Amino acid sequence: MTDSKPLRHFLNLLDFTPQELNGLVARATELKAMHHAGQRHTPLTGKTLAMIFEKSSTRTRVSFEAGMAQLGGSAMFLSPRDTQLGRGEPIEDTARVLSRMVDCVMIRTFEHASIETFAKYSRVPVINGLTDLCHPCQLLADMQTYTEHRGEIAGRTVAWVGDGNNMCHSYIAAAKQFDFTLRVACPDGYDPDPDIVALAGERCEIVRDPQAAVDAADLVVTDTWISMGQEEEKARREQAFAGYRVDRAMLDRAAPHALFLHCLPAYRGKEVTADVLDAADSVVWDEAENRMHAQKALLEFLLG
Ligand code: CP
Ligand code: NVA
Repeated sequence: MTDSKPLRHFLNLLDFTPQELNGLVARATELKAMHHAGQRHTPLTGKTLAMIFEKSSTRTRVSFEAGMAQLGGSAMFLSPRDTQLGRGEPIEDTARVLSRMVDCVMIRTFEHASIETFAKYSRVPVINGLTDLCHPCQLLADMQTYTEHRGEIAGRTVAWVGDGNNMCHSYIAAAKQFDFTLRVACPDGYDPDPDIVALAGERCEIVRDPQAAVDAADLVVTDTWISMGQEEEKARREQAFAGYRVDRAMLDRAAPHALFLHCLPAYRGKEVTADVLDAADSVVWDEAENRMHAQKALLEFLLG
C-alpha cells in the first residue's frame, strides 16, 4: 500500500473527534436520502472489506455487506470456523496477511484486546463490529436516528435501563462525544466499567431506580439482559433484572416527545414489553436501517 492517508481505526467512539462523529451522522442522513432516491454512489469501486465474525449477527453483517455493495465495493464474511484463526493462527499474523489483501477489516469478537492487537498489526483501517467492551457502530446509527426524528441530541437527557454492558459503555462514550446527559439505571453488580463512567465526567450518572432514570428523559434505551457469551448466566440475570423491564408505565414517565431505542435483537417480555417495542415512539426499525447508512458514511470516511 502506498496510500499516504494516515491510518485510522474505529474501535471506539473516542477514536474520532466530536466533529468527525457529527459529520458521519450528517453524512449518513445524506447517503440515506440518496439511496432512497435511487441515486447510485460508488466511491469504493474495487475496494474490499473483510468481516470477521466470532459471534452471531444479523444487522451488522447485512448492513456492512449491503453497504459495501452499494458503495461499489465488496465484502467477504469470514468465520473462525472456516479460517485458520479458529485453528490457532495468531491474530497478529492474520492481521498482517488480511491487510495486505483487503482495504478494510471489520471484526466482531469477544475480548476488546483482540481487536486492538489486530489493529496494531493491520495496514488498513479496522472497524469494531462489537466486542464485549463496546459497540460504536450501533451508536452512529442511534445518534442518526434520534437526530432524524427529534433534532440535535446535545443537551438532551438519555436514560439507559438495564445491563451496564457493551452498548451501555458506548452510550457513555456517546454522552461525552455528543454532549448529552446519560442516566444509567442498572441493578447492583451490573454496573458499567467505572473507568468508562469516569471518562464521561458529569455527563453520566449511575442510579439504581429505573423509574427515576426515565423521569422526563428525551430518549429511553435498553438492550438484552443476556449478551452473547453470557448464556450460562441466563437464570441469574433474569432474576437480577426483573425490575428493569421497560414497559408502558415506565416509558410514560419520560418526556411526552421521548423516543425508545433498542439495538436489537429484542426479547419481548424480558427487557422490553411488546407494546413498547411495537409502539409509535419506538423507532427501532429506523435504527436498524440506519446501521447501513451510518456505516456507509464510516466506510466512505475511512476508505474514500
Ligand atoms: N444490533 C446489532 O449489532 O445486531 P446484530 O447482532 O444482528 O448484528
Ligand atoms: N449486548 C448485546 C448486543 C447485541 C447487538 C450483545 O453483546 O450480545
